[in-house]
Amino acid sequence: MPKILVTGGAGYIGSHTIIELIKQNYKVIIADNLSNSDIRVLDGIEKITGIKPEFHKIDFADTKATKDFFDKQKNIDTIIHFAAFKAVGESVDFPLKYYKNNIFSLINILENMKKNMVKNIVFSSSCTVYGQAERMPVTEKTPIKKADSPYGNTKQIGEDILMDFGKANPNFNVVALRYFNPIGAHETGIIGELPKGIPNNLIPFVTQTAIGIRKQLQIFGNDYNTPDGTAIRDYIHVCDLATAHVAAIDRLKNKEKFGNFEVFNVGTGTGISVLEIVKEFETVTGQKLNYKIVGRRKGDIEKVWADTKFAEKQLNWKAKRTLSDALSSAWKWEKTIYNEQMTMNK
Ligand code: NAD
Ligand code: WQD
Repeated sequence: MPKILVTGGAGYIGSHTIIELIKQNYKVIIADNLSNSDIRVLDGIEKITGIKPEFHKIDFADTKATKDFFDKQKNIDTIIHFAAFKAVGESVDFPLKYYKNNIFSLINILENMKKNMVKNIVFSSSCTVYGQAERMPVTEKTPIKKADSPYGNTKQIGEDILMDFGKANPNFNVVALRYFNPIGAHETGIIGELPKGIPNNLIPFVTQTAIGIRKQLQIFGNDYNTPDGTAIRDYIHVCDLATAHVAAIDRLKNKEKFGNFEVFNVGTGTGISVLEIVKEFETVTGQKLNYKIVGRRKGDIEKVWADTKFAEKQLNWKAKRTLSDALSSAWKWEKTIYNEQMTMNK
């Protein structure tokens, strides 16, 4: 089976994708600098799949280290490029850190793909490229607005770099996946998202509040123009997002038919409000959540959800898991890490 290099494979989405790749018998190599992940995720992957993938500690923003790494690799068929910094707020305070890491890494990888004739790349893009679109749901043709944050800009610039690279190098193939809001964890509760410090994202904050690490969830704004006043997003189970990468690799196998640069929305197609998340979490887990409504968070948009028809038709992929599946898996994972922490503190 083809060999897949997963950059950022020790991270949240990467680790779940690796499980799916191994299930499909792909040979996987992980390269990550562990700047936002923990090497123990490899044990989790082994527990779930029976296979511990080859791991390399590499910083892809480092041009020489990237070259040295690629020079030693043979027969990589496809790169799934997850490695990037992703905290929107931090990117506003430290823009150069974000441009340097996310853009240098991409360029270093593309240069070495070219040199070593690695033909295919799947790029982690984001729904953040749409900003607040005028019409819902957003399709891949919805106009891209000027990015609201340096992080968002690295995704827009990343897509542009890849498009230009594809034009200039017709033998190389690119699929960019625009993820909506990934949530949840592997159904076993063995791997999941490991936010460092106070979580920015909704679901880790919800689970940490329910387990008692945080006192109260703040709901940012209930004066939006939405049915219950709270903001709407398209929350996709991370394991569904993982299978979209397998579909993208299949697509890359048939590139002659489709052109060598394509972009797909990867969401569920359903918009869910913050209050709906809270209610569903309480129903699914039986936990009462302590929350209060506060003012809007700076930089938040009112609503976004995906039109998923293009991915359904062209990738033959659709999100299958429910919101309830996602929230119960997130809760199971929160309990795993909490218990681990408790045992360590004993
Ligand atoms: P994550 O932080 O859990 O995983 C990213 C991994 O990349 C981490 O393990 C980190 O150590 C590694 N990394 C970062 N910079 C690196 C570098 N220079 N060299 C080597 N490794 C490096 O994040 P995630 O949620 O799994 O996100 C994966 C990708 O998906 C990112 O590109 C992110 O921007 C994109 N994305 C994420 C979301 C989301 O909400 N999680 C949504 C849309 C897009
Ligand atoms: C979801 C909703 C908050 C926390 C981010 C990035 C985006 C993409 C996905 C990478 C919003 C509300 C949250 C809390 C709350 N990532 N909320 N209380 O902001 O939609 O998207 O992740 O590409 O680029 O911006 O996700 O999970 O932070 O927020 O009320 O404590 O939950 O206001 O409406 P967001 P999120």
